[in-house]
Amino acid sequence: MTIAETRSELREALSAWDDPALEYAFVPTMGALHAGHLRLVAEARAAYGRVVVSIFVNPTQFDRAEDLERYPRQFSKDAEMLGEAGADVLFAPRVDEIYPPGTTTSPLPDLRGLDARYEGTMRPGHFAGVVQVVRRLVELVQPAAMFMGQKDAQQVAVLRQAAHAEAWPLQIIAVPTVREASGLAMSSRNGQLSEAGFAKAAQIHTSLAEAVERWRGGESAGAISLSAKRALETAGFGPEYFDLVYASDFSPVAADANLTTVREPLLWIVVAWYEAVRLIDNMPVL
Ligand code: PAF
Repeated sequence: MTIAETRSELREALSAWDDPALEYAFVPTMGALHAGHLRLVAEARAAYGRVVVSIFVNPTQFDRAEDLERYPRQFSKDAEMLGEAGADVLFAPRVDEIYPPGTTTSPLPDLRGLDARYEGTMRPGHFAGVVQVVRRLVELVQPAAMFMGQKDAQQVAVLRQAAHAEAWPLQIIAVPTVREASGLAMSSRNGQLSEAGFAKAAQIHTSLAEAVERWRGGESAGAISLSAKRALETAGFGPEYFDLVYASDFSPVAADANLTTVREPLLWIVVAWYEAVRLIDNMPVL
């Protein structure tokens, strides 16, 4: 695996594939890798043969300075894991490689309000930062496809809309969430939980599975949401939201809606805090 730290090292590494017939895939990450990231690399390899992975903790997508500071960093371990997983190029730039002094940011494309709901409201500026960095990474890497985790479902929807609005020449492929045996969605942030907290956090997945079952049983979205939030609170979590949304645009399903009144693809989405760690997850309603 070639490690490129600068834009010119990246160009040099990619020039080996400077043949329009050779397509390759891209997996953008912020490091602190786990089995979920390795699954993205494996899927990307299986589909395209060649994979570029980036590790870049993007400062512009953090709404809180302490979150950026606390974000886990383990570069050597990550590089070793990626080498073993068969990544071809690891792009690990410094901040000024991505945002050289004097860089101006193009305005955001029309995100159809997707950036103004849930994660967009809870983390002001977050999606602007995500679109800005992914747009920049995609320009530099020029992949045929980008593989992303479905755990951050709203991020995938925002990037799909940005790619569509700005005609990025690539496919975005969402890969199902990889879970611990307990059901807890794998996340770089899980390492910030205590051992007991790690075990307890599985309750987020349990409550999503219960919500799907209750929806199938005919209960209303509002009633399920309210009792899921209460149950999480009672168990010591700080839920920010636990809602049923339309998968197409993340607008909330009406509180009184139930199985018989809504027939589109839906997602239960949740964010809950535990031990000062912000945990996000979702589950589709089939
Ligand atoms: O999901 C992430 O790790 C980040 O938001 C991404 C897509 C790498 C952009 O910094």
